[in-house]
Amino acid sequence: MPSPIEDEYATLDPLAVRIATHEKHSAQPDDVDAAVSAALNLAGTEHLLDVGCGTGKFLARLRNSRHHGTLIGVDISPAALRSIRALPNVCAVGATATALPFSNEAVDVVTARHMLYHVEQPVTALEEFRRVTKQNGTVALVINHPHVTPRIRELIETRATKYGIAAPTQLMYPIDSRNLPNLVNEVFGNYTIVRYDNALVFSSPQPLIAFAISLLGFSGVTLEHPARRAIMRDIAEHVRAWFATSSGPWRDEKGYVVITTTCR
Ligand SMILES: C[S@@+](CC[C@H](N)C(=O)[O-])C[C@H]1O[C@@H](n2cnc3c(N)ncnc32)[C@H](O)[C@@H]1O
Repeated sequence: MPSPIEDEYATLDPLAVRIATHEKHSAQPDDVDAAVSAALNLAGTEHLLDVGCGTGKFLARLRNSRHHGTLIGVDISPAALRSIRALPNVCAVGATATALPFSNEAVDVVTARHMLYHVEQPVTALEEFRRVTKQNGTVALVINHPHVTPRIRELIETRATKYGIAAPTQLMYPIDSRNLPNLVNEVFGNYTIVRYDNALVFSSPQPLIAFAISLLGFSGVTLEHPARRAIMRDIAEHVRAWFATSSGPWRDEKGYVVITTTCR
């Protein structure tokens, strides 16, 4: 039986909806790739490993910006690996963050963006990032604030609970912008942090409905769940009714931090 993470990322469609929604419906421009690139200040020659690379959007953008160093995407999801293999001049490696199949000091830079909350043992992952990074190399991490988009989460949770569905354990662990800095300090002894506070703002129902549906798996409403259709209908009706009776846009707070640390 697939694990909740394998289930969630069996297809990257929901992830792609979330990425597109953040790009199109944020109060302030939200560009994680640019935020990480700014923190790294890359020369373009670095050997870079992106752990939990998902669609490979970040690696593709680096390659298109004429990054000459080796680019490697690591993921546990076969769908993610298929996506990376389609990119020119990017290596795809199927592996977990806590056991990277690379020698010590193999790369100049490790990035792990929006993925450490999927890892039960984040300190083991951080130790792996440190092991495979050269001395004076950099590790860049992106992690959400706790309780992002609380209104949308409540919209989903209420309906999942109504059908007796519980969020799966082994999908999301409580790693966020409050506790990751201390873990990074324990492993690396240094870090710098840049905070990005933002909000999702929807002025019409459809993009909000699509975004909520893309999050259903996190609440245990998997693609195959028998109540999924009814929950999707319920969410759509609620959102349409809200827009029909409210004057303002739907606003939901969100944000993340970019943490960079040097391997000494
Ligand atoms: C929220 S997505 C983020 C994708 C990408 N980093 C981004 O910013 O768009 C999380 C990704 O981490 C991957 N993942 C989850 N647990 C992992 C692990 N233990 N090791 C490697 N990848 C993992 C998932 O398969 C998924 O592709």
